Order: sequence, then structure tokens, then C-alpha cells
Amino acid sequence: MKKIPSSSITPEHIYRSRRKFLKWMGIGAAGAALASCAVDEKPAAVTAPSGENETPVSEELEPQEAPTETPLPSASQMTDELGRQLTRYEDITNYNNYYEFSLNKGAVAPLARDFPTRPWTIEVDGLVNTPTIFDMEDIYQMFDEEERIYRLRCVEAWSMVVPWLGFPLWKLLEKVEPTSDAKYVYFETKLDEENMPLVNRDMFVWPYTEGLRLDEAMHDLTILSTGLYGQRLLPQNGAPLRLVVPWKYGFKSIKSIVKIKLVADQPRTFWNNYAPQEYGFYANVNPKVDHPRWSQATETLVGAGIGRVETLLYNGYEEEVASMYEGMDLTVWY
Ligand code: MTE
Repeated sequence: MKKIPSSSITPEHIYRSRRKFLKWMGIGAAGAALASCAVDEKPAAVTAPSGENETPVSEELEPQEAPTETPLPSASQMTDELGRQLTRYEDITNYNNYYEFSLNKGAVAPLARDFPTRPWTIEVDGLVNTPTIFDMEDIYQMFDEEERIYRLRCVEAWSMVVPWLGFPLWKLLEKVEPTSDAKYVYFETKLDEENMPLVNRDMFVWPYTEGLRLDEAMHDLTILSTGLYGQRLLPQNGAPLRLVVPWKYGFKSIKSIVKIKLVADQPRTFWNNYAPQEYGFYANVNPKVDHPRWSQATETLVGAGIGRVETLLYNGYEEEVASMYEGMDLTVWY
């Protein structure tokens, strides 16, 4: 078993929450999104958040396909480093924002069920020395997937605690060697007119796009996720590869990425194009600055049944990320 590498950026309390690498095995070239695989250690039982239902999630879930081959949802621990309970697998996979499919959170999962995510390539180019088209099957082999238990805070004031699987984005960026002119990273979601029912409507500018400053993209907390709860991502959560930036509002976590481009200027983004006064480029979680439509002071933890909890500056990752924003006015919506 491989050990988590030491990191100069991430302090120990976050570090501990990642636990050990979960190395996927037996992921073949063909097959369903939930391909047969095994993790290299026996995970702790996964139970529902307190006060709701103490039945292990793995027992109450309906098998989705080929029951003998589908691994059960698993996580190495039941809480994040703040003691917040993991959100149930069922909630994470059935309460989704994925506007290419539906504006209704409960409708995304059934509409996205047959979204084809194999084969899949990710083109990484722009201001780099080694532009590369990565095949997703190679990505699974190339990078050790580790568990990262992160809070996901949506600007709509709901949140989840998700045991992601993935690897730091910097590991992929390192492979393409950004040039000194590269200052930002631009991301693009697949535009699949055949399988994404809403992308033919012109209420938004498609494809979904996002961006990060280069130092944010290189931060060790920023990951590309390939799975959650020990399983491959399902389409509704952004299969096969999505971004996760835990100190920013959830809309930065772009799903089903097909293109990553290193650029010199701050890129236009999907939500910023739609309503710039509502969706800033930075979108760092900040309880003191309300969104025009939603107070950001508190949040509802989906499925936890514990009422509203206080929202934390940078979603609780202040110690790790605040230094990147020195001098920024924290009373202003970015
Ligand atoms: N990515 C794409 N391509 N399309 C989307 O509509 N929604 C964003 C983000 N990534 C979105 C997206 C928003 S608003 C949120 S809150 C998160 O995905 C939700 O992720 P989840 O459905 O896995 O919880």
C-alpha cells in the first residue's frame, strides 16, 4: 500500500482526513461506469448522518447494476476533521446541480444515467511546453487516487461532506509544464447535444466553463475527482473527471471536464457570463458577504436533519488558503 506523500502545503488536520490512498484495481477498458474494482483495505462501515437514520448506507442502497460486481459505497471515516458527518451516498448522488441535464436537482440523476463517459479524453494545452491529450483510462493508471473528505458549500446555502477520490490537479499540470506566461487555468465541460437535454436552449452560454488562478490550481487542496465513497463518479456528479476546490462555492467545481487550458488572462466562466453581479470569479466561501439572493451566514447540511450550521470563512480552510488572498477586501463579493 502506498502512503500519503508528505506535503508542505497541507497541515496535519487536513492531511489526516485524507487517510490512505485507495488504489483502484481491475478497471478495464470497457464496461459500466461502476466497473468492478477493489480497494486495498477494508473500509469502516458507512452510516447515515446522526438523527436521521442509523442504518448503514451500504445496506439500504439498491444495487445499481450487476450486483455481484458493484462495490458498496465506502469511506475510511465517518466525519470530516471538524466532526461533521459525511453526507449519505444517496443524497450526494441524487441531489445535484448539473444544468446541462436539468434545473431540478432531483431530476439530474435519472436524466444523466446513460450519459456516455467512456471513452473519454481530456485535452490540456495553451501556455504549456508539453500539450497533451490524456485518455481517461491512462489517468486512472497515472495518478494515485486518494481519499479527500471535503466540505462542499453551494452558493444556494446548502452543503455536503463528501469523501472524494481523486488526485491533486497540480500533478496533472506538472506533466504539461506550464510556461512562465501562464497565469490562469481554464476548464471546459463536454458539450454533448445528443445526451444533454438543456444545452440546446440558449438561456446560458454553453459549454459550462470555469477558471482558477494558477496558484489556486496548484494548491494541494485542489483536486481532480474520479470518484466518491470508494466508487467511480456517477454521471450526475461529473463523471469521469471533475474539479473540486473545497474553499470555493460549489459552482467552481466543474463537472465532466474535456478541456483544460493554461492562459494568461482571467477566463470567462459560465456563471459569470450569466450574472456577473451574482457569480464572481473568485467565489471564495465567505459568511460575511451575502449573495444578492441568498444569505451566506449559515447553511443547511443536506440530509443531516440538524438545522442550519454556521458557514466558515473559506469553508473552514482558512488556515490553508488565506495567504493566497492577502490584501483582498473580505467585505466585497468577488
Ligand atoms: N458543472 C457543470 N458542468 N454543470 C453544472 O451545472 N453545477 C455546479 C458544479 N459543477 C454544474 C457543474 C454547481 S452550481 C454545484 S453546487 C456543483 O457542481 C454540484 O455538484 P454535485 O451535484 O456533485 O453536488
